[in-house]
Amino acid sequence: MAGKIGRNDPCWCGSGRKYKQCHEEFDRKIEVIRNQGHIVPSHDIIKTPEQILKIKESAKVNIECLDTVADRICAGMSTEDINSIINEVCKKYGAIPAPLNYEGFPKSVCTSINDAVCHGIPSKDEILMDGDIVNVDCSTILDGYFSDSSRMFCIGNVSDEDRKLVEVTKEAMMLGLEEVKPWGFLGDMGQAVNDHVKKHGYSVVREIGGHGIGLEFHEDPWVSYVTKRGTEMLMVPGMIFTIEPMVNMGDPEVFVDADNNWTVYTEDGEKSAQWEIQVLVTETGHEIISY
Ligand code: MF3
Ligand code: CO
Repeated sequence: MAGKIGRNDPCWCGSGRKYKQCHEEFDRKIEVIRNQGHIVPSHDIIKTPEQILKIKESAKVNIECLDTVADRICAGMSTEDINSIINEVCKKYGAIPAPLNYEGFPKSVCTSINDAVCHGIPSKDEILMDGDIVNVDCSTILDGYFSDSSRMFCIGNVSDEDRKLVEVTKEAMMLGLEEVKPWGFLGDMGQAVNDHVKKHGYSVVREIGGHGIGLEFHEDPWVSYVTKRGTEMLMVPGMIFTIEPMVNMGDPEVFVDADNNWTVYTEDGEKSAQWEIQVLVTETGHEIISY
């Protein structure tokens, strides 16, 4: 890494400054950490200030999509109606729903009810019922830049038990977020999430996790919540990734719907909850980009 680029050459980050006045020191620090045996980020997942602005513009649309769902969601509505809300808000801004046609996904948003863990496909035949807990996972492309976040919604009279699952899952995500800072490791975040989930007797889904995002829908790193403090990728300023733990009331095992090849369910039929935020690592800590 360092060495290939001259000290007086323009920095790889696109700042226009000389390498020696920009990321040279940074690269040296990363090299030391790599030599200690850690996973370190490559330059291509470190966003420039211009890219960060564009990703934030995309995220504004994503947030408005979920805010609009929050305003309108109610019992009796179909998950197809949620899909229509996403299409409507995206259209208003000339944005594209990222899930649509993504690896063949047929709709603009994922809607996952009760024991559906993630990747539920909206349908006019699927009606939200009093007592349901539903995750709406929204991802937006604006001018080629990606954003992604999801929220849980409690429909009508949700049992205390299910409400607690929803709340603890959000708490776990926020405790993970507190660990996001430069020169920490993704495992610090993962362990904070997992410890909180375990404390309440729940389990975290192992097979599906978060991801880097911004210039593409899914970039490095893969973000797990069954990881230990001090392991996984080093976090540095300019990285953007999602924190999106899926938390099961019962066992962590899941299976994929054999009919649609998408929707993931809990093996034991118990409920599952998920919240997702998109996070930027800053010089001093973190900033939530989408929620
Ligand atoms: N937010 C989900 C993710 O991070 C969205 C999946 S879209 C789908 O992967 F098309 F793959 F379902
Ligand atoms: Co995601």
